[in-house]
Amino acid sequence: MAAGPADTSGSALEHIGAHELITTTRAVRLRLDLDRDVEPDLLRDCVADALQAPQGSNLMRTEFVIVRDPDRIAAIGAIYREEFDRFYRTSEAGLFNRVDPDPRHAAQSRRTRDSAEHLATVMSRVPAIVIPCLTPRLADGDVLAAKHRLGTVYPTVWNFMLAARLRGLGTCWTGMTLGREAEVARIAGIDPAVVEQVCMIPVAHHTGTAFKQAWRPPAEEFIHWDTW
Ligand SMILES: Cc1cc2nc3c(=O)[nH]c(=O)nc-3n(C[C@H](O)[C@H](O)[C@H](O)COP(=O)(O)O)c2cc1C
Repeated sequence: MAAGPADTSGSALEHIGAHELITTTRAVRLRLDLDRDVEPDLLRDCVADALQAPQGSNLMRTEFVIVRDPDRIAAIGAIYREEFDRFYRTSEAGLFNRVDPDPRHAAQSRRTRDSAEHLATVMSRVPAIVIPCLTPRLADGDVLAAKHRLGTVYPTVWNFMLAARLRGLGTCWTGMTLGREAEVARIAGIDPAVVEQVCMIPVAHHTGTAFKQAWRPPAEEFIHWDTW
């Protein structure tokens, strides 16, 4: 790893081209280094980069709870594991019960399932868990407002994950604990009456160096020129 020319944050950046960065930043689960600490400065620099993302009406409402305390991580990891075992294993849309028609997609989903199972077993031991949050909470039933407000959070969160990759950190967007938000809130000292958890991201230095593009269907299958 060497300091890159565009590094204004203090932490050294990996030399990864923009195209490689956006096409090979994967969900990292099997290659999370559980034995290496993630320094707070690195995480702070990732948040600084994340905040450069587009913001609806220039509202900066995404805040990050960064949990590094091993006891809190163990408690959150236990909830994650329970949700994975009780809810996700039996969910219709989840990777354990769904069969994707395309064999390449199905093979990839099997690998994702195995990797996700591994994450469920190690979530309690990752060096850091980042919980992007939105304030004030979304209003029940107001889908239009939710679109606007979550649309402001998601690019910021993805920027965080790209920024982490540039610093040799692996991340994985997870939603597994959102159904247990109040319990996670208690562990992380979040007031659930005003603060909405958007997702939860394990962060660790990654082992190995190479990340590849994933299989995806051709773009044409996802485009409707001029009309749907
Ligand atoms: C909204 C959302 C929720 C997700 N929730 C989880 C999760 O709870 N656990 C997990 O292991 N991965 C989760 N993922 C990661 C996806 O499984 C992953 O991005 C997808 O399989 C594609 O993998 P790739 O990015 O490595 O190509 C989630 C991703 C998104 C966007």
